[in-house]
Amino acid sequence: MADHMWDLWMERAKPLVPVIVIKDPDEAVPLARALVDGGVRMLEVTLRTEHGLGAIETIKQEVPEAIVGVGTVTSAQQMLDALNKGAEFVVSPGSSDALLDCAKEWGGPYLPGVATPSDVMRAREAGFTYQKFFPAGVAGGIPMLKALSGPFGDVKFCPTGGIGQENYQDYLALSNVFAVGGSWLTPADLQSARNWQAISSLAIAG
Ligand code: 3PG
Repeated sequence: MADHMWDLWMERAKPLVPVIVIKDPDEAVPLARALVDGGVRMLEVTLRTEHGLGAIETIKQEVPEAIVGVGTVTSAQQMLDALNKGAEFVVSPGSSDALLDCAKEWGGPYLPGVATPSDVMRAREAGFTYQKFFPAGVAGGIPMLKALSGPFGDVKFCPTGGIGQENYQDYLALSNVFAVGGSWLTPADLQSARNWQAISSLAIAG
């Protein structure tokens, strides 16, 4: 299992994972460049639009400092397609046997989505001790993460969903949180206005 990759990346990058939605393929490179220039290097490019897969490939080629992963992966086929495009990590909002099996076979860094103790146990049994806690805000937020640290002291989480400028540091302060993710670093209005400087400033502030 490649869980050690998360530790390695955390030594080299800010513990912030922007959840990226590419609406126009031309946005991919300047957006990635703006984030990387602001010190945010782990980029989760979601498959929520048809441009996600292409953006992974383009960013990998054009912004080599970025660590490019794929998000919103809900099937094994999507995982394989993204890996073929060069995705370095994989994130899913929940998990399934098919996803866990596929990720195990790949052997790379995969964050299965979890929201309950049973989810945590299932993903851990499959060998994944780094997990995405989603949707963090409505699944119990900080009190839930504190509660999970008791029985699951060996599991580390990247909470996403409902996290923003106002509370991300509170999440990062938890001992079982290794990174936080979300869309607050790439606000849709700034992205569609192509205000890369403002996005860079958000990344710098993070
Ligand atoms: C995710 O996929 O992690 C979430 O959609 C991000 O949630 P947010 O938009 O509330 O940050």
